[in-house]
Amino acid sequence: MKYMELIEKRCSIREFRGRELNEGQTQEIKAYFENSGRLDPDIEVELVISAGDEYKKRLEGSAGYRGNAFGAPAYLTILSEKKDKYLLNAGYIAEELILKLTDMGLSSCWLTTNGSDNVKRALHLEESTKEAVVVIACGYGKKESALTRLDIHTPSNIKVKTRKGHIAPKIAQEDLVYYKVWGEPMDWNIIDPTLDRAFYAASLAPSFLNKQPYRYVYTDDLVILYRMKEDSETTREDLYLDAGATMANFDLVYTAHRSPDKRWICQEITEAGQVEAPDGYRFVAYFDVL
Ligand SMILES: Cc1cc2nc3c(=O)[nH]c(=O)nc-3n(C[C@H](O)[C@H](O)[C@H](O)COP(=O)(O)O)c2cc1C
Repeated sequence: MKYMELIEKRCSIREFRGRELNEGQTQEIKAYFENSGRLDPDIEVELVISAGDEYKKRLEGSAGYRGNAFGAPAYLTILSEKKDKYLLNAGYIAEELILKLTDMGLSSCWLTTNGSDNVKRALHLEESTKEAVVVIACGYGKKESALTRLDIHTPSNIKVKTRKGHIAPKIAQEDLVYYKVWGEPMDWNIIDPTLDRAFYAASLAPSFLNKQPYRYVYTDDLVILYRMKEDSETTREDLYLDAGATMANFDLVYTAHRSPDKRWICQEITEAGQVEAPDGYRFVAYFDVL
C-alpha cells in the first residue's frame, strides 16, 4: 500500500450512508488485520466486526465523544490481551487498519470508549477474556460537501457544524519535533528526506480530540517519542492509543524506504533522560535511525 498517500488522505468521517460492507470486504479487512504490523507480536489481539442494523444503536452511550457512535454500518473492535504496552500496541494496529480501510475506499472514525466492559456488553462480546481497546466506526461516508463536522474544543464543548471540505488542523512538524534538546528547533533543510516524510506522516495521525499529545526528539541517531501526562480530559488509555497511532505512521513511512528491520523500542535509554523533557511529558519509545 502507498502509506504516505493514504496517511494524507485519511480523515475521520462521522456520517455514514446505509450501505453495508459485503462479505468479501469483511474477509479482506480480517485478513489484513491478521498480517499487519505489531509493536509487540507477543500480545494476542483479535478483530471483531459487528455489522448490521442490530449494532447501529447498541454502541450509543458506550463509545464516542459524549456517547455518539454515529450509527455506522459496521464497528471494528480490537480486543487485546492486557499486557505491558497493550494500549500502544493496539493504537499502532488500529492506525494501520484504518489506512487499509482508506485504501479500500471505506470511511471510518475512531471512537473513544466508556470502558471495555460497556463496549463488550453492547457488542455481545462478554465472553471474550480480552479487553475491548479500540472501536472504529466504519462504512461509506456521506458526500464530503454534506458532511457534519465536529469543532472540538473540549469534550464538553464540541460544536457540530457543517462545513465544506475536511481538514482537521494538525501541529506543524516544527512544533512536533525537536532537535536534541526539548524545544530546540530542527533544521529541516539538512535532515534526511525519508525522516522528514516520516515525521510529516507522524504529524497526521488521528488523536483524541485532535490534541496530538506527544512530541518527538531527534538526536542524529535516535528518534525519541514522549507523551503528555493524563489530564482531566484525556485518559491514559486514549493517550497511549494516540501515541501508538503516530508511531505507526512514522514506522510505515520510514521502514517503507529504509531498513524494514528497524522498529520502535519501548525500553527507556540514557539518551531519553538527557533530553530533559518537561514534567508534563513521559518517555514512550525510541527508534534507532542509524
Ligand atoms: C484514541 C482516539 C479516540 C478518538 N475518539 C473519537 C470519538 O470518540 N469520537 C470522534 O468523533 N472522534 C474520535 N477520534 C477522532 C479524532 O477526533 C480525530 O482523529 C481528530 O479530530 C483529528 O481529525 P482527523 O482524524 O480527521 O485527522 C478519536 C481518535 C483517537 C486516536
